[in-house]
Amino acid sequence: MNKIRAAITGVGGYVPDYILTNKELETMVETSDEWITSRTGIKERRILKGENQGVSVMAVEAVKRLLAKTKVDPKEIDLIIFATVTADMTFPASANIVATAVGATNSFSYDMGAACSGFLYALTTGASFIESGRYKKVIVIGGDKMSSILDYTDRTTCIIFGDGAGCVLLEPTTEEVGVIDYILKSDGSGEAYLHQKAGGSRIPASIDSVSNKQHYVYQEGSAVYKFAVTNMADVAAQVAERNSLTKENISWLVPHQANKRIIDATASRVGISEDHVMMNIERYGNTTAGTIPLLLWDYEKKLKKGDNLLMAAFGGGFTWGAVYVKWAYDS
Ligand code: UT7
Repeated sequence: MNKIRAAITGVGGYVPDYILTNKELETMVETSDEWITSRTGIKERRILKGENQGVSVMAVEAVKRLLAKTKVDPKEIDLIIFATVTADMTFPASANIVATAVGATNSFSYDMGAACSGFLYALTTGASFIESGRYKKVIVIGGDKMSSILDYTDRTTCIIFGDGAGCVLLEPTTEEVGVIDYILKSDGSGEAYLHQKAGGSRIPASIDSVSNKQHYVYQEGSAVYKFAVTNMADVAAQVAERNSLTKENISWLVPHQANKRIIDATASRVGISEDHVMMNIERYGNTTAGTIPLLLWDYEKKLKKGDNLLMAAFGGGFTWGAVYVKWAYDS
């Protein structure tokens, strides 16, 4: 019997309406459109405004769009995995909230945290459930409301991130398409360079933790940059090599959108030209676990059955990885 693979059979996405431009950031912190554009490639990002609006609000919209497009009855969904580091609450899982809101009443659901690599971790986990033969419909979501953990007086972090969520449907296939191969990595020593200090069990929320701004993203940008540029390119090159993927047969590089310079370095390492690199960092910034599914959402119309996609990410943890997906349908 042919091996069961997990095919991506649909994509959904959602970004909030509010656009925070570099120009508006110039009025908030000591920065410039020129600096942000040349150092990161970002022109604007989306922000989820309003009271009581958690990351699940965006994920619910993304999943509703996915279900409408694929004409799948939510009751058929077996499992929802939500990659996020900005869950609505520490518990319950935002995936539980999403499942109930979309009517996926027969599913089980949970969150996964691997920061910017979260979607790749969740995609490969979801694929394993499908490959086991036990589950037929798995939704994998990646999304973050980064604006909820950003200090808008810190120019080194607030200019980078934005809010958004995307998702894919995974279904079994015996064709040679779907999630073919991957390498995932993590290194806890990265904690020093990129973290949110308080709010967990080590430093619970207190008046001191709030006044010391410990609930915001802390990043040593240039240190993270050095790790990201090497490691993301390394795993992408390794996955490419062991699957005989070259510039001739890679249809799309699908890189985490942290910094255009990191993306360019990864593309050049794998030998891919810019017109084969998915990119939307200029419009959404870094949405953490949302970047890769939002790229698929933006580029879905250009994808054809049999296209070779090389996904790659690097982020907090450190976590990083690359996934080789053969696209399963003509859009
Ligand atoms: O997705 C999760 C993983 N994260 C990443 O992959 C992010 C990796 N890091 C980066 O993308 C880059 O390091 C940043 C975009 C965060 C920063 O770019 P950089 O080229 O590494 O800048 P830098 O931190 O080395 O700072 C250079 C200068 C500094 O000034 P001095 O010391 O040279 O006078 C900063 O104070 O730029 C200054 N600076 C700014 N200037 C204007 C830092 N942020 C800003 C700003 N506007 N927003």
